[in-house]
Amino acid sequence: MVELDPLIRAFYAERYVEDDRLARSGHGQLEFLRTQELVRRYLPGPGATVLDVGGATGVHARWLAADGYDVTLVDPVEEHVAKAAELGTFAAMAGDARKLEQEDDSVDVTLLLGPLYHLVEQADRAQALAEARRVTRPGGLVVAAGISRYAGLLEYGTKGMLTGETLQMFTDALTTGRNYDEPNGFTNAYFHHADELRAEFGEAGFADIEVLAVEGPAAATLEHSSPEDVPRLLPSALHLARLLENDPRVMSTSFHFLAIGHVI
Ligand SMILES: C[S@@+](CC[C@H](N)C(=O)[O-])C[C@H]1O[C@@H](n2cnc3c(N)ncnc32)[C@H](O)[C@@H]1O
Repeated sequence: MVELDPLIRAFYAERYVEDDRLARSGHGQLEFLRTQELVRRYLPGPGATVLDVGGATGVHARWLAADGYDVTLVDPVEEHVAKAAELGTFAAMAGDARKLEQEDDSVDVTLLLGPLYHLVEQADRAQALAEARRVTRPGGLVVAAGISRYAGLLEYGTKGMLTGETLQMFTDALTTGRNYDEPNGFTNAYFHHADELRAEFGEAGFADIEVLAVEGPAAATLEHSSPEDVPRLLPSALHLARLLENDPRVMSTSFHFLAIGHVI
């Protein structure tokens, strides 16, 4: 079994259904469509090899394989890997972003769409980025997701759940970036500022770094919309996300960021 924070393992193995996370709410659909279009914007052509680290049950690996990429998914939660393997269109194996089994320079693209926000220590995130860089060939690409430092406040504030009892937890998290397992619906995680994620990519030695907002400012509205309202609201939310993806004044209202860096 891959070594993993037991609270994170229990969250995914016992309490959380990852498989349809990006389909069951309007916010999830927005996150999926925007992640897909941003990753597609940077990928080399079909046939390239893509390592999807923290790929869970294959939500991105399945369309990447359908697009013609040679995909290997890695995830430490065995239940995720088993579910991903059932799809049969890509390879799936257990592993940890901090200690990949892949050879040096062996893939064209490494995706870290999950591991960085579950590695709460900066040294662990640096190790995961160093591993991504090691296995990705020179000229290749590393794309990593981060969660915005303000995500907890935005989600709970717009849900009307910020009360005298919970406020301290969220204001503390603004300083530390730490989200603790329970009581607020997620598990142990680290929430980035956009410029901090960019700096971590810089320290890892990537070139031509970009950090973009994934969902933009309308995600909270979609999170709380009824399913029948989503088709009416999603196109405007997508439009806003595209318009403001690179605006430093508003990008932190996005729940997720994507950092893109090139290996030199
Ligand atoms: C919220 S899910 C995201 C899944 C998918 N990549 C996506 O973008 O929707 C986070 C994933 O990161 C994985 N993860 C957590 N710690 C990890 C680590 N140290 N190395 C690799 N993956 C990790 C979890 O098992 C989980 O599948």
